[in-house]
Amino acid sequence: MAEDAKFIMAIDQGTTSSRAIIFNHAGEIVAVGQEEFPQIFPQPGWVEHNPVDIWTSVRNVVAQALANAQINRHQLAAVGITNQRETTIVWDKNTGEPVYNAIVWQDARTGSIVREIAAGDPLGTERYRQITGENISTYPSATKIKWILDNVPGAREKAEAGDLYFGTPDTWVLWNLTGGTEGGVHVTDVTNASRTLLMDVRTLQWREDICKDFGIPMSMLPEIKSSSEIYGYGRPTGLLIDTPVAGILGDQQAATFGQACFEPGMVKNTYGTGCFTLMNTGAEPVFSKNGLLTTVLYKLGDNKPVYALEGSIAVAGSLVQWIRDNLGLITKSSEIEDLAKSVDDNGGVYFVPAFSGLFAPYWRDEARGAIVGLTRYATKGHIARAVEESTAFQTREVVEAMNADSGIPLAELKVDGGMTNDELLMQFQADILGVDVVRPVVVETTALGAAYAAGIAVGYWSGTDDVIANWQEGKRWSPALDKTEVERTYRLWKKAVTRTFDWVD
Ligand code: G3P
Repeated sequence: MAEDAKFIMAIDQGTTSSRAIIFNHAGEIVAVGQEEFPQIFPQPGWVEHNPVDIWTSVRNVVAQALANAQINRHQLAAVGITNQRETTIVWDKNTGEPVYNAIVWQDARTGSIVREIAAGDPLGTERYRQITGENISTYPSATKIKWILDNVPGAREKAEAGDLYFGTPDTWVLWNLTGGTEGGVHVTDVTNASRTLLMDVRTLQWREDICKDFGIPMSMLPEIKSSSEIYGYGRPTGLLIDTPVAGILGDQQAATFGQACFEPGMVKNTYGTGCFTLMNTGAEPVFSKNGLLTTVLYKLGDNKPVYALEGSIAVAGSLVQWIRDNLGLITKSSEIEDLAKSVDDNGGVYFVPAFSGLFAPYWRDEARGAIVGLTRYATKGHIARAVEESTAFQTREVVEAMNADSGIPLAELKVDGGMTNDELLMQFQADILGVDVVRPVVVETTALGAAYAAGIAVGYWSGTDDVIANWQEGKRWSPALDKTEVERTYRLWKKAVTRTFDWVD
């Protein structure tokens, strides 16, 4: 490989693994490094990560990707970061030590904080939604930060003395990458900030009044920057010294960017740990009447921000992992498809994976998962089928909300993420939505989106036109199932969902 060749690296700090992917100018994958890290479940509904595991895995995958590509840092024009959003890390800025584990976006421990704060405000949940675009729920970072300050001995005093930093994983990785206690930059981008419940979605600034509601000292918060600019340069890993870190996008926004959804009305769905449907709504934030979130999609340097409506589904791929790890019905996630194909249909079984309550469009913190419709006829094949179908049903619910909010019926759905390799799921998704489902050639659109944001900042790519030019259709699934059957099964799904409500006493 020529010594002057230039590439872009994206660090994708996801919920179950960290990855580093090196891309060339055509947006093709040159090399990948990947490492899983432990998931910690201390109590029912609680999900944590060790922030040190997160950072160690990032360092390892950066080294792996460079080794696999047989290049060194001099051949990287820039690095972009994309990340699991909302996940909350609080650390001592003087020592670099986290004061508690990362509280993961799926964690449902803060239900009582949500109820207490919503009850104390005359407009309840509505005030926060009008300002931040988000519902007050266990999902955004705000209640998680409050929980740490309220429950970790000494944390509140330290925070008030200005010794603690808060960050989502983008900020944690960037701070460590750019020097940590030796001058690391404490920055986030607008897309990640828009997931905290603390940022005004119109002004793109932290809201002092909301920080006060949650008792969060503003000195903990990172500086909010655009999604595409040089934030700092790699320092202590020895691997990325002096390489510009020039792009940050929350993972779902990154995937939407990598899918080239640049026109209002364009929609993508990413099938990862959870499942997230985003619709570009253009230059103005649109506030949902149907249970969707308003979020910043991206902001390139000094340009105006672009907004999206988002349908967030908490459990998708993680349900397959649960079937594998907690029930042992399969030994590898990819086996779910064959198990589901061992039967002709779901046999009347529906699986509503409300493990973290229900997110969009319901927002019910107190819901818990249920398998319904069981008879002696049901086999593990039917349960596997119900697992697959649950993701497609949940997607239809958020797409219906999007159609209602935008008044524009979805024409086709662009998809990406690991579960798009599952033919049964993709066909059922097209059937249940009644529109084509389209997968690009490069399915790693999350990492690709972050690479584009970084590459655009340093002039490696000229702008979104390059992204559009590089996007190529890989595979398409068209609806084939009888419409009466589609509506019958969807009706039963909706009924199954109601069985999960009000489960926490
Ligand atoms: O909001 C949570 C989301 O960012 C996590 O994404 O890809 O880890 O399911 P993923």
